[in-house]
Amino acid sequence: MRVLVTRRWPVEVERALGERFDVVLNAGDRPLSQAELARAMGEFDVLCPTVSDKIDAAVIAGGHKVRLIANYGVGFDHIDLAAAKAASVAVTNTPGVLTDATADIALTLLLMAARRAGEGERELRDGRWSGWRPTHLIGSALMGKTLGLVGMGRIAIATARRAHHGFGMKISYYGRRECDPAVAAELKAEFFPELASLLGASDFVSLHVPGGAETANLIDAAALAAMKPGSYLINTARGGIVNHTALADALDRGHLAGAGLDVYPHEPQVPGVLLGLENVVLLPHLGSANAETRIAMGMKALANVEAFAAGEPLPDRVA
Ligand code: DGY
Repeated sequence: MRVLVTRRWPVEVERALGERFDVVLNAGDRPLSQAELARAMGEFDVLCPTVSDKIDAAVIAGGHKVRLIANYGVGFDHIDLAAAKAASVAVTNTPGVLTDATADIALTLLLMAARRAGEGERELRDGRWSGWRPTHLIGSALMGKTLGLVGMGRIAIATARRAHHGFGMKISYYGRRECDPAVAAELKAEFFPELASLLGASDFVSLHVPGGAETANLIDAAALAAMKPGSYLINTARGGIVNHTALADALDRGHLAGAGLDVYPHEPQVPGVLLGLENVVLLPHLGSANAETRIAMGMKALANVEAFAAGEPLPDRVA
């Protein structure tokens, strides 16, 4: 079975794939063009893309050999699932294994934004630090503050656990339905059926909904206006959920005290309006970037390819 891996994966996983299949790896780690991805659809049995590959309808129509798209990553808004289904191509992802790593990054952003760590580091490295003083770079405490989670899936719950048990934060959440009562009891979490009410009641808001058409621009100018004055926005989910022009305006006017972002609508481009603002922490999509997690993601993708090769049910099928 011929397998194409579009980007470099951890060596352990590349080796394991190579031992089992006829694999073409991307040693140079160069992003493939849309034309190359489309051509691959006619040349391989399995395509293993990741979030930086746009697997749209035109790519899927590029050939009829690929029968499985085994995505390296949990999010799949970069894959046209309807086109894949119509072409009888199965799609899998890698859920579960990056929950803790992504929750860690949400907390990293929350702490960095609240305690103005990016501003402080830039000041120090630029030689502008004049020494300790009582009024220098004053941020916000976390203890007793409310963290409002938009979406209450695995990563949101892991983020809430860290914030509640580790930092003494109160937990509120908005979602389509209430979460498992045991989780709600553990976190003393309050459910808000209306997004605007959650936004107005939270000192920190962290986004945990999937990307795609349903959530595009969910956090627009009106949603930002509904946030508490002096609050913070954290996004480790997908860039398209936030209107960054409106966010930059809210940060610039001081309506929001700060923001922490790991994801952007058209990566690797970062919305220019954010770059000049001191009160936003900008990370380059590091959510799952630790060695253990990246290996586990690859092994999960491999498990899906193996199941496919054996004609067994796919463990993480999304289409
Ligand atoms: C994913 O898996 O979708 C992340 O965004 C990349 O770690």
